[in-house]
Amino acid sequence: MARRPLIAGNWKMNGLLADSLADTLATLMRKKQDWPFEMVVCPPFTLLHYLGKTIAGSGIALGAQDCHIKESGAHTGDISPLMLKDVGCTYVILGHSERRMDHGEGDSLIMAKAKAALAAGLKVILCIGETEAERDSGKTLEVNQTQLKGSMPVEVEAADTDLVIAYEPVWAIGTGRTPTDREIQEVHAFIRKELIALIGTAADSVRLLYGGSMKPGNAGGILALPDVDGGLIGGASLKAEDFWAIAQQSPAL
Ligand code: 13P
Repeated sequence: MARRPLIAGNWKMNGLLADSLADTLATLMRKKQDWPFEMVVCPPFTLLHYLGKTIAGSGIALGAQDCHIKESGAHTGDISPLMLKDVGCTYVILGHSERRMDHGEGDSLIMAKAKAALAAGLKVILCIGETEAERDSGKTLEVNQTQLKGSMPVEVEAADTDLVIAYEPVWAIGTGRTPTDREIQEVHAFIRKELIALIGTAADSVRLLYGGSMKPGNAGGILALPDVDGGLIGGASLKAEDFWAIAQQSPAL
């Protein structure tokens, strides 16, 4: 079945109201509406409201970078899935390696967040990926399998359409280094096989994104791989022209 490529920008802890990135992107996107790919930008929480208004009508979706497991309550500093819906998000990134490392998030918490987000009607971009030491010791597939099984909610009805998996090798994030296209396809094909074991034929429609130093110069080859259905882009998503140039290399459906 055809999976519509998803080009997702993760701005991480970058972006101020004064920046014109969102406006530039929205202008580019408005040029034509029938793109074969779907696009989502995930700015920091502080920009969600502003950005939501800027991109309204452009066809670009709004996403956040994390959420809590509860709807509301005494959780200082946290943001709930309901609040993300309220501000116009349709996506949330969960389990990013930077949250796993900076905030000690483990698979079971990530699964709980994913369940809460899906229950609130958000689509989830669930991140998994090995460190350099794990790759060097031949544990790439094993680590990705463990993270997938540990953090992916399998019982959700809408698992096929609302769940997106992003494979982000930790050593490729922000380093300018990437696995070879063959290595990326090997991990993605493995994840697809694991997904089939977990959720059956619904796995066929789950989009698998690659993330880690994706740039206009390497995106074409990566996006053309059979089990790659888009990208999760960090640094290059902070330059509207680069982000747009990556998106335009998505293969036609
Ligand atoms: P870079 O594209 O900056 O390597 O970041 C990838 C990433 O972590 C996206 O979530």
